[in-house]
Amino acid sequence: MDHHHQQLYSLWSYPYVFKIKKHFFVSLSLLSLLIFSTVVIVNLIDSSSFEPLYRFGLLSPSSLALRTDCDYSKGRWVRRTSSSSLGLLYGEECRFLDSGFRCHKNGREDSGYLHWRWQPHGCDLPRFNASDFLERSRNGRIVFVGDSIGRNQWESLMCMLSQAITNQSEIYEVNGNPITKHKGFLSMRFPLQNLTVEYHRTPFLVVIGRPPANSPAEIKTTVRVDEFNWQSKRWVGSDVLVFNSGHWWNEEKTVSTGSYFEEGRKVNKTMGVMEAFGKSLKTWKSWVLERLDPDKSYVFFRSYSPVHYRNGTWNLGGLCDAEMEPETDKRKMEPDASHNRYIYEVIEEMSYQHSKVKFLNITYLTEFRKDGHPSRYREPGTPVDAPQDCSHWCLPGVPDTWNEILYAQLLSMNYTTK
Ligand SMILES: *[C@@H]1O[C@H](CO)[C@@H](O)[C@H](O)[C@H]1NC(C)=O
Ligand SMILES: *[C@@H]1O[C@H](CO)[C@@H](O)[C@H](O)[C@H]1NC(C)=O
Ligand SMILES: *[C@@H]1O[C@H](CO)[C@@H](O)[C@H](O)[C@H]1NC(C)=O
Ligand SMILES: *[C@@H]1O[C@H](CO)[C@@H](O)[C@H](O)[C@H]1NC(C)=O
Ligand SMILES: *[C@@H]1O[C@H](CO)[C@@H](O)[C@H](O)[C@H]1NC(C)=O
Ligand SMILES: *[C@@H]1O[C@H](CO)[C@@H](O)[C@H](O)[C@H]1NC(C)=O
Ligand SMILES: *[C@@H]1O[C@H](CO)[C@@H](O)[C@H](O)[C@H]1NC(C)=O
Repeated sequence: MDHHHQQLYSLWSYPYVFKIKKHFFVSLSLLSLLIFSTVVIVNLIDSSSFEPLYRFGLLSPSSLALRTDCDYSKGRWVRRTSSSSLGLLYGEECRFLDSGFRCHKNGREDSGYLHWRWQPHGCDLPRFNASDFLERSRNGRIVFVGDSIGRNQWESLMCMLSQAITNQSEIYEVNGNPITKHKGFLSMRFPLQNLTVEYHRTPFLVVIGRPPANSPAEIKTTVRVDEFNWQSKRWVGSDVLVFNSGHWWNEEKTVSTGSYFEEGRKVNKTMGVMEAFGKSLKTWKSWVLERLDPDKSYVFFRSYSPVHYRNGTWNLGGLCDAEMEPETDKRKMEPDASHNRYIYEVIEEMSYQHSKVKFLNITYLTEFRKDGHPSRYREPGTPVDAPQDCSHWCLPGVPDTWNEILYAQLLSMNYTTK
């Protein structure tokens, strides 16, 4: 009886205990998985609500690995939480800002546009560390080449880097030129780091010149698609080069104003703008491969920065001053600018000869930011009936994110000038 009882007990109880244990562990694992996936999903859905987890020490930012293969171009804008340590990097008083980019000073009252950060999909942007960037750039040259939006980005980087300098008066323009809009060349020197951060204005990258002799009168200037900009000799030997071009490659800024394309010292009136852009990029590519040291120079071509003129083009009353928030309706976003395909393809062709040539793809993230432009808060003295500016960016603002991505891409290549 006892024996029988014992047997029953044992037959019944051991598996029962085992089952309880098993269930317990299975449930525990499921629960952990659930917590983990909730955290991940919450992160994907809304990273602003995810940030407090950092503060409670449940997850450190570094536990979301800094992946070297991360595609920073994909992601979403999330509102910064007020207590977030990922705050603004600098203020509008930064002395390297053009007056046209100081939107508050020019009367803009809303400040919501300052409170967004880019959350890439599946990884984090490394925190911008100005001292680290400066240290890596010691004895070097960082050069921006392009149009006024390249200048916008250059000013942003100047402000971001100068935050690591205790006495900012030490930083000076090598030719003593002030930061004013129309200078073609500005070189800011960080004496303690023996570093210059330069801007070279060249909207087309290639040569703009007089047409050949005996050209018809309607041809006022030519864009020589097969001749690289003469300023380019100054860019040789730089450590980081950030090119951009695109906003001038349209009918309006070329053939409609008497500026035709020229190839082989012959004007070609049938050559289309995009075809000419493609040819100019080939010219750029040859220059990079022939003149830059592939072991030394980190070369970026920034993608097209979208404009946000609503209810008309820039010159026909287009505006963006009512925009206070990033776009939420993806159907209202423009498709990737056609310029980008040309840039991307040329970079792909180069990548095996010069592996440090990268496409800085900011178009998609920037497309959301219809709220980030100076609109009617332009530089002091702008006539009230002047067109709104829905193509440049208020600073601090969107170009800061471009520079965070630039820094992230440099880090992934172990960038240093040494
Ligand atoms: C740039 O990035 C966006 C977002 O990831 C992507 O949709 C687009 O195709 C990229 N552009 C190019 C030319 O690769
Ligand atoms: C920034 O980089 C410097 C090295 O140049 C390092 O000492 C410092 O701890 C870094 N700061 C942060 C917040 O990571
Ligand atoms: C500053 O950097 C240049 C290279 O850009 C180098 O030739 C020069 O020796 C450096 N000066 C000092 C004091 O390190
Ligand atoms: C800051 O740098 C400027 C220019 O080099 C110098 O005139 C000034 O004395 C410096 N200020 C301090 C507090 O060191
Ligand atoms: C002008 O450019 C077009 C487009 O590239 C080309 O088909 C044509 O042959 C060119 N004409 C001359 C005279 O080179
Ligand atoms: C844009 O135009 C539409 C239709 O004409 C009008 O309803 C709307 O108020 C305009 N938007 C702005 C911001 O002026
Ligand atoms: C950067 O350095 C890390 C660690 O030293 C190495 O694993 C990685 O391959 C390097 N990346 C490049 C692009 O050189």
